[in-house]
Amino acid sequence: MYTPPELRSFFLDYMQQHNFQFSPKELFEPVDYILQLGGKRLRPILLLMSHNLYQAKIDAALPAAYSYEIFHNFSLVHDDIMDEAPLRRGKPTIHQKYDINTGILSGDVMLIYAYRYLLEVPDKNLVPELMSLFSKVASEVCIGQQYDMNFETSTTVTIAAYLQMIEYKTASLIAGALQTGTILAGAPAADRHHIYEFGRNLGIAFQLQDDILDTYGNAATFGKRIGGDIVQNKKTYLVLKAMQLANNTQKQVLEELLSSYPKDETAKIAAVVAIFDALDIKSIASRKKDGYHQKAIEHLALVKVAEERKIHLKEIAKELLERMK
Ligand code: IPE
Ligand code: IPE
Ligand code: MG
Ligand code: MG
Ligand code: MG
Repeated sequence: MYTPPELRSFFLDYMQQHNFQFSPKELFEPVDYILQLGGKRLRPILLLMSHNLYQAKIDAALPAAYSYEIFHNFSLVHDDIMDEAPLRRGKPTIHQKYDINTGILSGDVMLIYAYRYLLEVPDKNLVPELMSLFSKVASEVCIGQQYDMNFETSTTVTIAAYLQMIEYKTASLIAGALQTGTILAGAPAADRHHIYEFGRNLGIAFQLQDDILDTYGNAATFGKRIGGDIVQNKKTYLVLKAMQLANNTQKQVLEELLSSYPKDETAKIAAVVAIFDALDIKSIASRKKDGYHQKAIEHLALVKVAEERKIHLKEIAKELLERMK
């Protein structure tokens, strides 16, 4: 069985052999740029890990792993336009470095290549099932992204609605990647289900951590602008929980700040963080995250492979939820 660093290295080799150095460069250079910027390579590594639970060799899973990583990066390119984000992995976002039209079309071609790589799986009999799963989770990412945008201008978002939104925009793709590894490996149906549920709960916890880091992370390690969610009036768990716990004065301040776009963004971020801190929001959000982590582990326990084979998945889940980037 391979370790996650070994799988990562196989995946990076495959990426190097399948780069995007095509013409016209105006279309493909940004694709290469974003894919070479790094990132955790979480979705492909999880896909290879779930495959490796059942199969000693992982080569058959590499094209699908690449497909999920390309789709993920496509979603980031468009997400950064939508979120007006200046930084990604510590470097300028595509629309900053080039322009918005480049972000749109280079993103579009990435989505198409995600499908093209999924067609490259060696066992063509699996293509319909893999395509169907991929199309489902990819549509859910779009649905989640739309809710995320709708919520920016809403003052009536519930915690349940937020959790549904992050399940769509983030957890589905992670769950889909994990399940894809099991489909390619011919795993039993019950295991495929529990692996999906492991990924879904892990994905929700993962987005909760992303939301925590957006406010409490360190720009140098996180690689994104700290406070970006506050600036954009995102209705994260931190905001919604703070609204629940706030006294009348705090509530008024939060409502006012998070329904406007004041010029002094630094002051806005500081004022919102002061209320979060007074209400101990960071610890509360962290406990919520732990609850989903726990649920993920419960599903992993129901997967019928020897316990010692699950160690890497357990470790990576723990690391991801304690991550600073
Ligand atoms: C960022 O995903 C978008 C979210 C779903 C939070 P990652 O945190 O996996 O980004 P990279 O690929 O490691 O940069
Ligand atoms: C991202 O959510 C989910 C996607 C589908 C891209 P965020 O907007 O929180 O992701 P980051 O923080 O920009 O990576
Ligand atoms: Mg974003
Ligand atoms: Mg976003
Ligand atoms: Mg974020």
